[in-house]
Amino acid sequence: MKAQATINSGAASAQPDIAAVAGATPAPQLLMSPPDFFEVSYAINPWMDPAQWALDAKQLAQEARSGWAALKAKYEALGAQVVIQPAVRGLPDLVFTANCAVVLDGKVLLARYLKPERAGEEVHGRRLFEQLRLRGEVDSLHQPPPDVFFEGAGDAIFDAGRGIVWMGHGQRSCLKARETVAQVFGIPTLSLELSDPRFYHLDTCFCLLSGGEVLYYPPAFTEAGRAQIRAVVGERLMEAPRDDALHLGVNSVCLGRDVVMCHCSEPTRQALTARGYRVHVVPLGSFNRSGGAAYCLTLKLNNRYHGRAA
Ligand code: ARG
Repeated sequence: MKAQATINSGAASAQPDIAAVAGATPAPQLLMSPPDFFEVSYAINPWMDPAQWALDAKQLAQEARSGWAALKAKYEALGAQVVIQPAVRGLPDLVFTANCAVVLDGKVLLARYLKPERAGEEVHGRRLFEQLRLRGEVDSLHQPPPDVFFEGAGDAIFDAGRGIVWMGHGQRSCLKARETVAQVFGIPTLSLELSDPRFYHLDTCFCLLSGGEVLYYPPAFTEAGRAQIRAVVGERLMEAPRDDALHLGVNSVCLGRDVVMCHCSEPTRQALTARGYRVHVVPLGSFNRSGGAAYCLTLKLNNRYHGRAA
């Protein structure tokens, strides 16, 4: 018998799972949703321009399909298992699975979208995770209190090495979401204020690598946020140039020593290579027009901190 889905349950039991005990690293399990109905039909961030999209809609939709397929193929070639969330007509941003939840130790904290244009995605997220729960892929579903906006892993980046969740607030998610994250997952959080509307989710300007390095775009944060990042990350901090930030290259996914990015400037490539990473560029220009790139299109389902409860 699986545990009943619970809403806002208290802190986790700290029971480690077998894989954690054995020290094995299971293949990353990544949630993606195909861009069957992806388009830019409304504007909820400065990247989005429906009139510009309409000028070339057919071509851009085709590029979205091929870019998404290339991203999925790249993840699979790197050993990840991709889980698919079906697309839904009329919900173009459902493709950005990073926003629908954050999943840690088999617990799913569902999103509560600030933007009404995306609120219709919530019911589909809940349905999907209900199915994954019945299949035993996740254990419990949780949701933020009604007055707390929280846009999932876009604003909540799990840092296994440091044992914290980095959070973003000030554009989409509320500062209060950190309390929900701490309570549901039993993990400390560090919330950074986002000061530029172009970098409206933490994942647009902050990329955590597997060795604990952080690639970030300093102007997207307040001085206090930058100071916090510097204090915690120290010499493992890497600055992304403006060129990468403005192509959403920071919105990248690191799987072991491999970094999957939609854009990588030469200085960033050299800096990553010098630290032992392999850079894989998958062009995702159509998604950039919605303010998204590789990380936004991906949600990791098997993050482990305490381990899954027995
Ligand atoms: N158009 C979407 C929005 O504004 C893009 C979301 C990108 N996702 C992300 N995790 N940054 O909400």
